[in-house]
Amino acid sequence: MSDPEEKHRSIAVTDLPGVTPSVANKLMEAGYATPEAIAVATPQELSAIAGIPITTAQKIIKAAREALDIRFKTALEVKKERMTIQKITTGSRNLDNLLGGGIETKTITEFYGEFGTGKTQICHQLSVNVQLPPEKGGLSAKAAYIDTEGTFRWERIEAMARALDLDPDEVMENIYYVRAVNSDHQMAVVDELMGLMAKENIRLVVVDSVTGHFRAEYPGRENLAARQQKLNRHLRQLMRLAEIYNAAVVITNQVMARPDVFYGDPTQAVGGHVLYHAPGVRVHLRKSKGGKRIARIVDAPHLPEGEAVFMITEYGIRDLEE
Ligand code: GTP
Ligand code: MG
Repeated sequence: MSDPEEKHRSIAVTDLPGVTPSVANKLMEAGYATPEAIAVATPQELSAIAGIPITTAQKIIKAAREALDIRFKTALEVKKERMTIQKITTGSRNLDNLLGGGIETKTITEFYGEFGTGKTQICHQLSVNVQLPPEKGGLSAKAAYIDTEGTFRWERIEAMARALDLDPDEVMENIYYVRAVNSDHQMAVVDELMGLMAKENIRLVVVDSVTGHFRAEYPGRENLAARQQKLNRHLRQLMRLAEIYNAAVVITNQVMARPDVFYGDPTQAVGGHVLYHAPGVRVHLRKSKGGKRIARIVDAPHLPEGEAVFMITEYGIRDLEE
């Protein structure tokens, strides 16, 4: 088989040695619905969830890793894997160039900025654009949209699809939407996606916003450590999806500008970006004159310095001159 992902998709949890039907049920209920999810679990986790001895859990994890061919790779293989990374256009050539060609698969991209800077609009646009054929900047694939704030608007999807001469109903049919009601739900949804993405050609996962529930549920400084720990677990979950399914993960994060450092570095906003230590690309957004938006990449040595200007139009994300 030429596509390595084809191989993954054909293995079920029940195919793994040591997984009895009752163990399989427990694992699936707890969100470990695929060998991929099991392969990256700890024996302690699995043991507790499935009520099996640690040694059995170790065997199951080992079997999952073998089934998925997780092992040392040569540098050449790493190179070839890098070459499987694909890009989704944002709709703005300027912004694409700043990102090195678009939003990358196998990566988490974080858009952060104040209210109204265009984070949600970019998420809508990417959910449409991922469906475009590769020659038009898409991946001919579907999107999963996790909405934590209730700001998803199908009307915007419809308008953006029309503007690209796509069939709006078809485009909307290819976006799997979930409204996540709290942070636990948000994380459970991602567990579920692990299984859904094995069946469906979903290559973009949006979480808008990634931080809202976590901030509300873990307020104040005293909860900061617990919040960040849980958020980190969430990010690892998302990174797994990105890697296993060669998908782009896009997350948003609302931050407040700091009036006291008005003349300082605008990317040092209150709340900051969430990808402090996680791999990924962080993009700071801000408003400018005449409805313009300015994007700037933060802490990415492999991407060019500088800023990109774009517009939010009735058709979606576009360059200025359009
Ligand atoms: P928060 O979620 O509040 O943090 O903001 P956000 O960064 O997600 O902002 P969002 O993406 O919702 O951007 C809102 C802005 O997009 C509005 O202020 C408008 O300027 C613009 N916008 C949204 N819909 C339309 C539209 O249909 N036409 C035009 N021209 N602009 C729109
Ligand atoms: Mg928003």
